[in-house]
Amino acid sequence: MSDHPLSQLLPPRRLRFDDEALARWGTDRTTSFAASPACVAFPESVDEVVQLVCIANGHDLKIVPSGGRTGLSGGAVAGGGEVVLSFDRMNRILGFNPTDRIVRCEAGVITQVLQDYADEKGFFYPVDFASAGSSQIGGNIATNAGGIKVIRYGLTRDWVAGLTVVTGRGELLRLNHGLVKNATGYDFRHLFIGSEGTLGLIVEADMRLAPRPEEQRVMVLGVQTLNHILQVLERMAEAVTLSAFEFFSDLCLRKVIAHKTVQAPLSVSTPFYALIEFDLSAEGKVFEAFEVLCARGIVMDGVLSQSREQAKKLWYLREGISESLAPEHPYKNDVSVQIADVPEFLDSVDALVSRRYPDLEVCWYGHIGDGNLHLNILKPEGLSDEAFYERCHTISPELFALVQAKNGSVSAEHGVGLLKRDFLGYSRSDAEIEAMRAVKAVFDPNGIMNPGKLL
Ligand code: MLT
Ligand code: ZN
Repeated sequence: MSDHPLSQLLPPRRLRFDDEALARWGTDRTTSFAASPACVAFPESVDEVVQLVCIANGHDLKIVPSGGRTGLSGGAVAGGGEVVLSFDRMNRILGFNPTDRIVRCEAGVITQVLQDYADEKGFFYPVDFASAGSSQIGGNIATNAGGIKVIRYGLTRDWVAGLTVVTGRGELLRLNHGLVKNATGYDFRHLFIGSEGTLGLIVEADMRLAPRPEEQRVMVLGVQTLNHILQVLERMAEAVTLSAFEFFSDLCLRKVIAHKTVQAPLSVSTPFYALIEFDLSAEGKVFEAFEVLCARGIVMDGVLSQSREQAKKLWYLREGISESLAPEHPYKNDVSVQIADVPEFLDSVDALVSRRYPDLEVCWYGHIGDGNLHLNILKPEGLSDEAFYERCHTISPELFALVQAKNGSVSAEHGVGLLKRDFLGYSRSDAEIEAMRAVKAVFDPNGIMNPGKLL
């Protein structure tokens, strides 16, 4: 395809039109959208990205930014002849500033590579999730990725000290320059964080590191009800600083065990499990809280990791859920409310689910310490994907109305993308959505950046 406008910029091996590339880079982990991009571009420098965006503007080409493609909302799906711009070849760590504890990364650096680099330097990059081995920093920033350590360390946003972006106009902006203090007006860095590629492309990032924590311990506790999970959270959070507080239902556990040969954590099975992580030095206080919870009949049983290896195994019971459910094409919900509203919210969701999905398997799990619930509805055998998604889509407005009643979010951490776009109004007002459109028009006046996503 030497007549393609981008052929003047990139050699054939970095501008692919073959079916394998179109299928592979044209989609993410969402299962309900088909890929059909025109080509996949692999720039190797910021300058090439700038030129690519300028050519796209001149030829009315649409661009879909592509990181590790681990997203679950269709944010990286190219379904309409777009150019997929992959950051796979911009994956270098460019430097480290130990005084400010800042690592400068190209957008395509894999999350785990940054975590390992931080560790080598004696520090810690705390944002973590099951897809850390393939997700890229640029994608994490574009979706403000959360994950399993938010309760202690916050979101990706909290670790971005500076950004280099190429706007949809093709301008290069260097934002915040790694400064701690910078009171000079609008902080565009924060507009690009979570913008899902709709304003421009994140090409480089200054990521701040944390001090390395002490060794961690993991405990899994079995409980009878969702309400008991919340009582465990309250008691444990009062006793110690938690690094993570996760929960999952027994159905999730059974799916993980069926997917991989792993063992149930406890000798009894209970309807729900809480998984907590904490500093080794807090072990005594956690144990005291555990005994109180058992004496009150809130916790039925528990297991504590004795080594890193055991901690990893216990973590797999929670982190392996997404991968274990994926073959069943679940309908995924990722909602959040304020932590104080969690008990009432869970009750109302529970009532809705029993009323509207009585015949379907529903997997409950999530980062309940952040007010974030992942509710996955499993497709029964024999039902087509289309019929199943259609049924779930008719029920979603009822769930989102419960979210709206609590001023919650219809997408806590997976992003809006294509999947949640039509439901944005449940979490953002008309005036806000109008302002978002106006902001997009400033940075991407020709609407070439990630069309159809978010707005
Ligand atoms: C998780 O918490 O496991 C991730 O957000 C992925 C998912 O919900 O499937
Ligand atoms: Zn999650």
